[in-house]
Amino acid sequence: MFEVLPHLDPDPILGLSAAFSEDKNNAKIDLGVGVYKDEKGNTPILSSVAQAQHILLERETSKTYITPQGNQGYINNMLALLLGEQSPVMMADRVAAVQAPGGCGALRILSELLVRCNKGARVFVSDPTWANHIPLIGSAGLKLETYPYFDKAMAGINFDAMMEKLSEAGKGDVVLLHGCCHNPTGADLTNAQWDAVLTLAQEKGFLPFLDVAYLGFGDGLEEDAYGVRLLAENLPEVIIAASCSKNFGLYRERVGLAAIITDSSKVKKIAQGQIQSVARGIYSMPPSYGGALVDIILSDTALKQDWVSEVNSMRNRMHSLRTMLVEKLEENGAQKDFSFLNTQKGMFSFLCITPEQVRQVRAQHSVYFVDSSRVNIAGINKNNVDTLAKALVSVL
Ligand code: LMR
Repeated sequence: MFEVLPHLDPDPILGLSAAFSEDKNNAKIDLGVGVYKDEKGNTPILSSVAQAQHILLERETSKTYITPQGNQGYINNMLALLLGEQSPVMMADRVAAVQAPGGCGALRILSELLVRCNKGARVFVSDPTWANHIPLIGSAGLKLETYPYFDKAMAGINFDAMMEKLSEAGKGDVVLLHGCCHNPTGADLTNAQWDAVLTLAQEKGFLPFLDVAYLGFGDGLEEDAYGVRLLAENLPEVIIAASCSKNFGLYRERVGLAAIITDSSKVKKIAQGQIQSVARGIYSMPPSYGGALVDIILSDTALKQDWVSEVNSMRNRMHSLRTMLVEKLEENGAQKDFSFLNTQKGMFSFLCITPEQVRQVRAQHSVYFVDSSRVNIAGINKNNVDTLAKALVSVL
């Protein structure tokens, strides 16, 4: 039966990890998959998470099924983190939400829900966007269109072109926006640009679909929620897919949240039943473990403070790695100005070099990153930055 299927190339992001492990060069550098790494190149369990694991081990007395929506404590804590403690939409009982298996799970079940609402809905995604947005949203049956976003020549957002394209979206259409720390470019909307997106959404009536996978990695946990809260508080409907993979370091535990802001508490009940029925039809209920850990952390003042400090130190370190790379490139005689890296946010940036140069640096120097020139900033450290800068300069 399966011989009819075509052979597929490895995933453009996850496939890099396999290629990296096979590379025998001791000086190899992995700037591929988006995972946070410390100075030694390890991805350790956060201390707040390790403490929560001990608590959970003591506390958990059964492995029976959890509820279809997932851990309600986790959901409430996550909504408070995303929408704010005093969120007016929460107080108005307008938010349906379920724990989801990772940000991917959230993106997929929300896409399935959109298909149930409007089979012909168009989803406008940024050009470029995270590679996995395409199969996650497209395979649900939604039609994807792109809007201009990152301009390599400007090394920044072409906001006028983005807004011009988005003005074609109307009622029944969906616009996917990265809540913060745009993946793959690291180029984020300013608060004033978020304000303009809100005005356009109000005028045109499209539905914003927010992907929030890096909260806290841009400017701070509160600062990074600006766009999410602005749209949530000023539009009748918004949907949100959030992930705890990066900011809690819970990658393999698959911890996400799908939230639907509706225009009334009556519609909220309908949305809650529908999203649970979508989930039941795919994976029944989310895995319990990671959500329980996040719930423990966010429900305990001292543990939450520990976690906030850990997020702050990951963010600050990534900022300093950006500066270090820009300086090293300059020191090694790069003709190209890379200072734009310092203005970008989160884990990723485009180096704005060609796919040919990316492949060259991989083949000649064992430096691994995505063909688009997306680098995982967190893969840089004091020991590899010089080798990295020299390798990049040699292919410029
Ligand atoms: C990434 O973009 O590298 C991460 O979100 C991991 C993934 O699943 O692609």
